[in-house]
Amino acid sequence: MRIGIYGGSFDPFHNGHLAMIRSALKSGIVDCVITVPSVCNSFKRYTSILPAPYRYYMVRDCIETLGIKNVYTSDVEFGIEGVSYTVLTLKALTEPGYIKAFLEGSGVKSKKASEDHKFYWLMGSDTLATFETWYKPGEILDMATLLVAARPGDDTDIEVCSRSIRKNLGGDIEVFRLDGVECSSSGIVRDDRFDMCPEPVLDFIKTHALYSENTRLEGVSDEAKKQFFDYSVLMYKYLGEKRLLHTLNVGILSAHLAEVFGADKDKALIAGAIHDCAKELDIDEQRRLAREYSGDVFTDKKLLHSPGGATFARDKMGIEDKEILDAVCYHTTGRGNMSVLEKIVYLADKIEPSRTYTDLTDIRIAAESDLDQAMRMTVSSVRDKFIKHGRDIHPMTLDLMRDLGM
Ligand SMILES: [Fe+2]
Ligand SMILES: [Fe+2]
Repeated sequence: MRIGIYGGSFDPFHNGHLAMIRSALKSGIVDCVITVPSVCNSFKRYTSILPAPYRYYMVRDCIETLGIKNVYTSDVEFGIEGVSYTVLTLKALTEPGYIKAFLEGSGVKSKKASEDHKFYWLMGSDTLATFETWYKPGEILDMATLLVAARPGDDTDIEVCSRSIRKNLGGDIEVFRLDGVECSSSGIVRDDRFDMCPEPVLDFIKTHALYSENTRLEGVSDEAKKQFFDYSVLMYKYLGEKRLLHTLNVGILSAHLAEVFGADKDKALIAGAIHDCAKELDIDEQRRLAREYSGDVFTDKKLLHSPGGATFARDKMGIEDKEILDAVCYHTTGRGNMSVLEKIVYLADKIEPSRTYTDLTDIRIAAESDLDQAMRMTVSSVRDKFIKHGRDIHPMTLDLMRDLGM
């Protein structure tokens, strides 16, 4: 097969990206296109607005929902340590074992998936001008032909750049006509032009309240933002889409609540973002990790991931901060004498934007001004649920209720 590879931040994925994909397919130069949302790209290391899992699922879900044939989304960059330079992405993606399994997993017939493939790296004409400055451009050209999108008027520039690349590095360059809108992700965010995103992307953005003031993480240190991005990539291995996005949403909301209630924004971001990190581990593993953090205080299967998550965070993420670990440990039950940080994570877990289990409007309003009142409202709905299902309320939740005067 002739496979086009389209890497990018996709922050957000927009109609210009779709035009690029559709035009490449229409040109007949490639049989399919694999989009590769960047995890840690060399030009924008940690500067994307959203961490990688949001952007990966945004692209993947959009393409699936629109049902665009012969377009697939790869998570290959999640497996690359450090900066995911194009040359490393290409190496990982074109590795025969990987590409065959990936194509088969995407629904391509086994015979086609096993063919000898030819790879094309999709790029805009503006990017072609900087290609020679990329990391190991010669090796990129050994693995892939550059497939350059041209708009009317671009031809001379492309010709000049191509000549220089061919002379200095060798390699193949092909050009295809690009039809469709011109827009940029940064422009869309800056000018609030989200109407330039496809419908499924708009739904995704709305569900998780992305590109809002909270997702800008103002007041969070660069170091904490970097950790937030790194942990989001690490957790991708351990959590499915829904839970991973939920736990990241809790981080973003916790950072906002920390601003409102005067807690440490960095700690709130991290504690919230990782609070469910252990929830999809094998239950015996959860039990072992839970015991390590808090002995046999938690025995109910549904609670094990909280103390288990604290151990996981310490061992796998190197988090030593006791306040963060405790906020993770007590996010399900609460406890007596909770710190503001613990309350924030507890609350954000129940009301982050993608939560829809009940009408949360009133609690969300309360959470903007009165932490204990929002806690009371949340705990009381938890209590009602437990009573309805005939379950006992955990003694530590009873301590929390007493503290809240319930
Ligand atoms: Fe949880
Ligand atoms: Fe949660």
